[in-house]
Amino acid sequence: MGELRSRRSVLAVPASNPRFVAKARGLDADAFFLDLEDAVAPLEKEAARETAVTALNEGGWGGKVRSVRVNDASTPWAYRDVISVVEGAGANLDCLVLPKTTSARDVHWLDTLLTQIERAAGLPVGRIGIEAQIEDARGLTEIDAIAAASPRLESLVYGPADFMASLNMRTLVVGEQPPGYDTGDAYHYVLMRILTAARAHGLQAVDGPYLQIRDVDAFRRSAGRTAALGFDGKWVLHPLQVAAANEAYTPSQEDYDHAERILDAYEHATTVDRRGAVMLGDEMLDEASRKMALVVAGKGRAAGMKRTP
Ligand code: GLV
Ligand code: MG
Repeated sequence: MGELRSRRSVLAVPASNPRFVAKARGLDADAFFLDLEDAVAPLEKEAARETAVTALNEGGWGGKVRSVRVNDASTPWAYRDVISVVEGAGANLDCLVLPKTTSARDVHWLDTLLTQIERAAGLPVGRIGIEAQIEDARGLTEIDAIAAASPRLESLVYGPADFMASLNMRTLVVGEQPPGYDTGDAYHYVLMRILTAARAHGLQAVDGPYLQIRDVDAFRRSAGRTAALGFDGKWVLHPLQVAAANEAYTPSQEDYDHAERILDAYEHATTVDRRGAVMLGDEMLDEASRKMALVVAGKGRAAGMKRTP
């Protein structure tokens, strides 16, 4: 996972709103996407393409991962979204987000179209990645084929709002348990399914939005849950959610220090003492402990953490 881009906070920016686009530049999100899909009204779709191209070419995005969310493959807008954005700003674009991905075919379509445009425009072939949103029953059923569909894939992204609608779940609050369901976690299956498919194919797993944007504590709880499972990050819709996401998907200093200590102790045990199991304080370590520690240490290193001296 080491070579993948950082996506602790992925900022959703409606491409039809130049004020939001300008403001997004100054926020501390790891990644952003300019949205041509559900945050843009049908009558604004065409103008939004131009705004997105201009915003990418004007730059000023720092080290953020730069994406555009096109309309889904079943819509009349999708092909021209891809052509306009990649012909217009392909050199300043890292990824396309493909919403409502329902089968490997959707990914193949986008992969092929991207390759055609890259060739025609003299762009390096294969550099632009794909992030597939899993947001309906079909997408979840087909998830392994989707995850394996293209080397361009970088992440699988959970789309909770569309997903809940697709299942006919009886709730209107995205990210909270459906009222009346008083046992377990209604989202555990979908989250673990996405996470497992992502890891099986070397992709990142990104949690979707939390729509009650003024309730930062609720956002923190929601992000904390998927961070604990192993997700790499979450969409953010508001400046207040950015810092909370960066914190949630970065290990605590204590856990980071502990992970680095485990790696040192295990390295010493296996190479100097030639032993496969060793004690660190009261904790017994073996090769599996090393792998777990590497996950936490890897996320901490990627976030620029340093060990407590
Ligand atoms: C995001 O696209 C969602 O549907 O939640
Ligand atoms: Mg959606």
